[in-house]
Amino acid sequence: MLDTKQVRGGNGLAAIDAEVDEILQSVEEITRDATKSFFDKYSENPNKAVLASWLETRCWREIDYVFLLNEQIRRYGMRFQRNHITLLAKQSFQEAEHYEALGKAVESLGGIVPTSVPVAAVPWSNFLWECMDRHHLAAIAAWYVSETSASGSFEPTFVGAERHGHTDVVKIYKQIEIDEKFHTGLGRQVLSTYAETDEDREEILRAMRGMRDIAWKSFTPEVVAATMRAA
Ligand SMILES: [Fe+2]
Ligand SMILES: [Fe+2]
Repeated sequence: MLDTKQVRGGNGLAAIDAEVDEILQSVEEITRDATKSFFDKYSENPNKAVLASWLETRCWREIDYVFLLNEQIRRYGMRFQRNHITLLAKQSFQEAEHYEALGKAVESLGGIVPTSVPVAAVPWSNFLWECMDRHHLAAIAAWYVSETSASGSFEPTFVGAERHGHTDVVKIYKQIEIDEKFHTGLGRQVLSTYAETDEDREEILRAMRGMRDIAWKSFTPEVVAATMRAA
C-alpha cells in the first residue's frame, strides 16, 4: 500500500488516523481482488470490447477529477494556502493527461471515449459531487479514498494487460501509478492541514466511508458485463 501517512501537513486527522488508515487499507484490498477477478474472467474469453468498456469507466474518472479539482479550487480555494491551489491545479492537469492517454487506449481497443458519465460510474460520480456540495473537505476525502482504491488496481492490471499483450495499457498505467503517489499524498496533506473541528472530521469520515463502499464496484466483471454498451 502507498504510504501516504508520513506527509507534511497539520495534525488535523490525528484523532481519526486509525479509522482513516483502516478505510484506506480495506478499499485498496477489495479493489485489488475485484481487478484480479476482472482479468481472470477476461482471460476465459478475451474480448477487446469488454476491456474497452472497463477502461471507459476508468477514463471517465480521470475527466471527472479534472472537473472536481477545478470546482474545488473555484469554490473553496480561497480557504487554502496558495501553494495548495497550485498543487491541486497540477493534479488537475495530470488527470487531464490521464484522460487523454486512456482515451487513446480505449480507441485502440475499438471503444468510444466517454463524454458523459458511463452507467457504471454514476454512483461514484454522484457521490463525489454530493460531497462537494456538503463540505469544503468532503470531496477531497472521497477522492482520496477513490484514488487509493485505484492504486489497488495497478498490480493486477499490469499482470492482466501484459498477459494479453496490451503493452500500451501497461505503459499508461505505469505513468498513472507514478502520478497517483503525488495525488494521494496531496489528499492526505490537504485534509490534515485544514481539518480543524470535530464536525470537519465527521464530514471527512462520512465521505471516506461512503466512497469505500462505492469505489471498487466498477472494477468487477459483473458490473462491466451488466453495463456494457450493446455491440
Ligand atoms: Fe488519474
Ligand atoms: Fe489521480
